[in-house]
Amino acid sequence: MERRGTAAGVLLAVAALAAAEAQLSPAFYDAICPALQPTVRRGMAQAVQKEPRMGASILRLFFHDCFANSSDGSILLDDPPSFTGEKSAGPNANSVRGYEIIDGIKAQVDASCNATVSCADVLALAARDSVFLLGGPNWTVQLGRRDALTASPNVNLPSPLSSLPALLSSFRAKGLDARDLTTLSGAHTVGFARCSSFRAHVYNDTAVDSTFAAQLRAGVCPWTGGDGNLAPLELQGPNKFDNKFFRDLIARRVLLRSDQELFGGGAASSSTTDGIVRAYAANASLFADDFAAAMVKLGNLALTGSNGEIRLNCRRAN
Ligand code: HEM
Ligand SMILES: *[C@@H]1O[C@H](CO)[C@@H](O)[C@H](O)[C@H]1NC(C)=O
Ligand SMILES: *[C@@H]1O[C@H](CO)[C@@H](O)[C@H](O)[C@H]1NC(C)=O
Ligand SMILES: *[C@@H]1O[C@H](CO)[C@@H](O)[C@H](O)[C@H]1NC(C)=O
Ligand SMILES: *[C@@H]1O[C@H](CO)[C@@H](O)[C@H](O)[C@H]1NC(C)=O
Ligand SMILES: *[C@@H]1O[C@H](CO)[C@@H](O)[C@H](O)[C@H]1NC(C)=O
Repeated sequence: MERRGTAAGVLLAVAALAAAEAQLSPAFYDAICPALQPTVRRGMAQAVQKEPRMGASILRLFFHDCFANSSDGSILLDDPPSFTGEKSAGPNANSVRGYEIIDGIKAQVDASCNATVSCADVLALAARDSVFLLGGPNWTVQLGRRDALTASPNVNLPSPLSSLPALLSSFRAKGLDARDLTTLSGAHTVGFARCSSFRAHVYNDTAVDSTFAAQLRAGVCPWTGGDGNLAPLELQGPNKFDNKFFRDLIARRVLLRSDQELFGGGAASSSTTDGIVRAYAANASLFADDFAAAMVKLGNLALTGSNGEIRLNCRRAN
């Protein structure tokens, strides 16, 4: 009896998952909002032209949205009165940026399409366009997400001090495997981190190139003060989406301890991620192809159907 119940439960869960996925489609807005994709692309092109880092910031915004429950625009909600919302939560406060860019693009989309498009879909498209505009791959975005009614009380993000097992389990909780973790971490080919995010790694770790660490200690990242000072996550081109981040990993010249966990960590990484890092460092198009596929996978965990709503203002529920 109990076994039958469990099997039926699994079947139901699989069916529910399939149904949820079936509701996302690249053609979702073709009839109701044909202006959508050109509008988002134009908005992101303007934003990146004004400030190249914005491409990186919007890519990260999408990742953080997906991990707090799912790709449901929950991170875009201003803090609710009842608890500390996603915007003010540890990994996001004074760090995640780009909210006003999404607000601006959503307003332009609504002007053509009368609030038929979710904030979550605008963000998913904006993240795709960010990568493309910075020189990375282009891909087809699955659409039809619905916006969450409330912010998630848990951001569910790994920390920059996480070990490889912790990173793996955090990604596994979202249906993402070791290869997805490695691929998606390649997003750190663009953008910047604050001294407070990498101080421990450049002062206290041994798995870091000593010259590289010394430069950061003497430069942007003093032992005390300077918490908000920025350094590029990838040395040679923080505004260029390419595979050089994986070469930095092999040379142990990356800012985040969590990133270095993916390569050269002895038995732990040699059996899981070292080989993937080497393959991406050697083959830019392999990384580009895998990154596009992993971004689709990341965004497919979404609110669909009649769940949630189409928000008018991305900062609050209707
Ligand atoms: C694997 C676990 C990850 C950890 C622990 C992590 C952690 C971090 C940290 C600490 C920063 C710097 C934040 C600051 O100092 O203000 C950062 C920046 C960034 N992260 Fe991640 N991250 C992870 C995965 C990802 C993924 C999967 C993506 C996207 C697919 C991503 C995209 C970015 C981007 C683009 C930036 C730069 C943002 C900007 O310059 O505004 N990260 N990440
Ligand atoms: C816009 O949508 C609202 C609510 O869905 C509807 O009442 C209104 O008629 C629509 N306006 C146009 C111009 O389609
Ligand atoms: C990017 O991919 C989308 C979806 O397949 C397509 O509509 C668009 O034309 C592509 N953009 C470029 C510049 O290749
Ligand atoms: C998380 O998403 C599920 C559906 O995907 C929803 O039922 C639940 O209410 C959400 N939780 C929060 C806190 O947003
Ligand atoms: C470095 O490690 C020492 C000893 O474990 C600890 O007291 C200190 O807070 C650490 N500093 C940083 C920046 O992580
Ligand atoms: C690089 O990866 C692509 C797949 O994206 C593959 O077709 C190609 O053969 C690889 N090149 C080399 C030199 O291995």
